[in-house]
Amino acid sequence: MELRHLRYFVAVAESRSFTQAAERLFIAQPPLSRQIQQLEAELGVQLFERSSRPLQLTEAGQFFYQHALKLLSNAEEIKCMTTRIGIVERSIKIGFVASLLYGLLSKIIYVFRQQQPNLKVELIEMSTFEQIQALKQGKIDVGFGRLRISDPHIKRILLREEPLVLAVHQSHVLAQKQCVTFAQLEQEQLFLYPKSQEANFATQVQSIFAEHGLTPKNLKVVREIQLALGLVAAAEGMCIVPESAKSIQLAHVKYIPIIDHDATSPVFMAIRHLDTADDLRALFDCIYQVYDLEAIQYERAVL
Ligand code: BEZ
Repeated sequence: MELRHLRYFVAVAESRSFTQAAERLFIAQPPLSRQIQQLEAELGVQLFERSSRPLQLTEAGQFFYQHALKLLSNAEEIKCMTTRIGIVERSIKIGFVASLLYGLLSKIIYVFRQQQPNLKVELIEMSTFEQIQALKQGKIDVGFGRLRISDPHIKRILLREEPLVLAVHQSHVLAQKQCVTFAQLEQEQLFLYPKSQEANFATQVQSIFAEHGLTPKNLKVVREIQLALGLVAAAEGMCIVPESAKSIQLAHVKYIPIIDHDATSPVFMAIRHLDTADDLRALFDCIYQVYDLEAIQYERAVL
């Protein structure tokens, strides 16, 4: 006995006519009658009173009808649940450095979620170093960071060079400028972030100063970007942030472009070598869609 037999039987029982049931099932009447006969033969009982018009169920037929309905409904439920479980299980785990969250990361993830409603997206904050380990251990599928870390198992893709800007209190003389240079910052109180043992955004900014032959005289490294900007708002000093951090609006804090040619911070996407799963490609495409929407400058990389 197959589910098909149950469906045919229920259609005949509810239509009380072979002709109407055949129309409802979009099949011809003779094969429908044959299927019902096969079912009755397998069960060894008559399910319909053949002599009655409209067609009546026998007592065994009534019993079978109640249970056939339940079985069909169960089968439908199993089908839906299995499909839903299969859909929910598609997931992508994304590692990111905190500085990206204040910029485009949140927008990219929002758009990506809308484009991929059946994909579970998980965001995990971690340093670029931690991302490399996490990728190799399968704990994440993609990492977004700012450091040029090389590893034979990891493919690093440069998405763009993000301009750096100066965050400065509006009362400071530099706040009145259209733009500034690193040389103008050498004597200023500068807050760098984050505070950690490994290479990070703070060390990246310091090496740009060094490449210009500059040694900032008053550097202080603080835990995170909010702390640095909070201190700027209190007119304690200034800090250098990626342009997208301008979305953090604090009273009395102004953002001034830095015009040195290398006043940029790279944004990298890291994946496992040879991993070009469809979901990664979709995320990659989504990033460029957001860049286009936001009129961000970039040179398109190859995944
Ligand atoms: C970006 O700011 O360019 C960016 C941030 C997160 C993921 C990808 C790109």
